[in-house]
Amino acid sequence: MADTVKKLALSRDLDDGELSALIAADVHDEELRVEADKKRREVYGDAVFIRGLIEFTNYCKNDCYYCGIRHGNKKAERFRLSPDEILACCDEGYPLGFRTFVLQGGEDPFFDDNTLCTIVSAIRNRYPDCAVTLSVGERSHGSYLELFRAGAERYLLRHETADPVHYGKLHPAVMSAENRKKCLFDLKEIGYQVGSGFMVGTPYQTVGNIVSDLRFLQELDPDMIGIGPFVTHSETPFAGFESGSAELTLRLLSILRLMFPHALIPATTSLGTVSPTGREDGLRSGANVVMPNLSPVRVRNKYLLYDGKICTGEESAQCVACLDARVRSAGYRIAVDRGDVRKDGAPK
Ligand code: 5AD
Ligand code: FES
Repeated sequence: MADTVKKLALSRDLDDGELSALIAADVHDEELRVEADKKRREVYGDAVFIRGLIEFTNYCKNDCYYCGIRHGNKKAERFRLSPDEILACCDEGYPLGFRTFVLQGGEDPFFDDNTLCTIVSAIRNRYPDCAVTLSVGERSHGSYLELFRAGAERYLLRHETADPVHYGKLHPAVMSAENRKKCLFDLKEIGYQVGSGFMVGTPYQTVGNIVSDLRFLQELDPDMIGIGPFVTHSETPFAGFESGSAELTLRLLSILRLMFPHALIPATTSLGTVSPTGREDGLRSGANVVMPNLSPVRVRNKYLLYDGKICTGEESAQCVACLDARVRSAGYRIAVDRGDVRKDGAPK
């Protein structure tokens, strides 16, 4: 099996049987981690890119069974930020070193193309040296195109699970893996830097499902790959299921780094939620991005996709200082940089 890790590091791929065995066993985690860190340093050195996450609406028309802001959760207190409030988050983030702003929200019809385009272009005008990333779910090709023309260059849309049957166990019948994938290929075709990914340890997930997720990512060839453990939310249909583990998430982060050496891969808040050292461990296992929250403190405890979410009480500056110390303790440094993907692989 040790040979399998070497083979993955060299050829960036394995056959399905080898991948399944690697995903299912814990004995090679340290070797995987060492190889992944080596690869990450070859491409990105010790740089960790920061993305300022602005959670601007928790209204959502969808009813995903795992998610705390699903339409059906009547206990969720809903909020929307105004365009001025969103710009104020950027004003706070820029002097803290952010050169990427990620606008993330539920699928909220209030934010139609016009409204969102106005917000995107306002940010681009005020901060021309910053990238705007959108994470607002499934929309039409035309909508994605307008938003791209308004200045959004990157888009995050996790595929969640590539297997249509598993997808059906996590979502109501009106949603489909097929449409999700179509959206991702639309985004790519338009010219966005695209991010996808999946949750680790969702109900009913099998090792075979994870292999399918990795195969789908190979097909899509995204610039960004976000994975994090599923974390239980008590007001969802999955309230009775256990959260995914940090251990398997870390193993998969290393496998992803070896399969996609150039990818931008975050150490996620959900990983930090299931383990106190989750984000540091994630960075050591191959991740090279962190996404501190820039949302106003008054709404932070309302954007709860899962229980126990960390960083909900902190001011942005506190969060950045805390994260900076964590990144340094893990052996890396935060870069004040847009942090675009390095396709040529040249180290800085
Ligand atoms: N646990 C972990 N991650 C979740 N997400 C949604 N709900 C949960 C949960 N309960 C993830 C999804 C989504 C991203 C924004 O957050 O993968 O794409
Ligand atoms: Fe947010 Fe530590 S990273 S408080």
